[in-house]
Amino acid sequence: MNVLRTIEEARKRSRAAGSRGARVGLVPTMGALHEGHLSLIRAAKAKSDIVAASIFVNPTQFGPNEDFARYPRDLDRDLGLLEREGVDFVFVPSVEEMYPEQGVTWITVEGLSERLCGKSRPGHFRGVATVVAKLFNIVSPDLAFFGQKDAAQVAIIRRIVRDLNMPVQIEVVPIVRESDGLALSSRNAYLNPEQRKDALVLFGALNGVRELFEKGERGSAALIRAAKADFERIPAVRLDYFEIVDPDDLTPVTAINKRSLVAVAAFLGGTRLIDNIVLEP
Ligand code: PAF
Repeated sequence: MNVLRTIEEARKRSRAAGSRGARVGLVPTMGALHEGHLSLIRAAKAKSDIVAASIFVNPTQFGPNEDFARYPRDLDRDLGLLEREGVDFVFVPSVEEMYPEQGVTWITVEGLSERLCGKSRPGHFRGVATVVAKLFNIVSPDLAFFGQKDAAQVAIIRRIVRDLNMPVQIEVVPIVRESDGLALSSRNAYLNPEQRKDALVLFGALNGVRELFEKGERGSAALIRAAKADFERIPAVRLDYFEIVDPDDLTPVTAINKRSLVAVAAFLGGTRLIDNIVLEP
């Protein structure tokens, strides 16, 4: 497995693969890899000839009071995991390599960037969209793999690919969960044992909504009310949002009459977790 630190090296490696007619699949990550990331790698292996991953904790998608500085980093462990999965090359740029001077060009997906996590994390999706576009320009993948857990991120990336005619196919891989239902996240490492227990309310509330939906409830207001009642029972967890939206443009739906995304974000102390399910009548 090649570990490439510069844009030039990554571009050369990917172009060489492309010129042989190989399909390159890219898995962009911020490291601190877990089974969720490895499921992306396995999906990429199944669909691509060459699998590339990137590890870059992207400063532009963190707000000033967020966890950029303490975001978990363990490059040796991550590289070991990627090597074991048979990744062909990993792009591990420094912040200076990706942002050599104060950049003034950003990608903002109007409307979508301010919905769901974008509401409480202003600038987050602008940072995500911009770094993903940069990675696509550097690696030129034929396919790129993202997790369903970041459903709003998926909607935004699909939109930039469509609006900017990027020649890359976006593949979305299902959420991987712990045996008790907690969605895997690099940020789960921040939770103390009490918070780890409380965190189950996210998936619990989503499941509650699914049960009501399966019994015939379609109204978003009633479904959201039931979910919020679950959160009220655990005061240590502060709900950021619980919304039912169109999965493509992230606008709220009043009733689940078509495929809809039920998305939640909540704080456990300083740790913000997200989760979602998709319901289809
Ligand atoms: O999902 C992530 O880990 C990040 O948002 C991504 C897509 C790697 C961009 O930094």
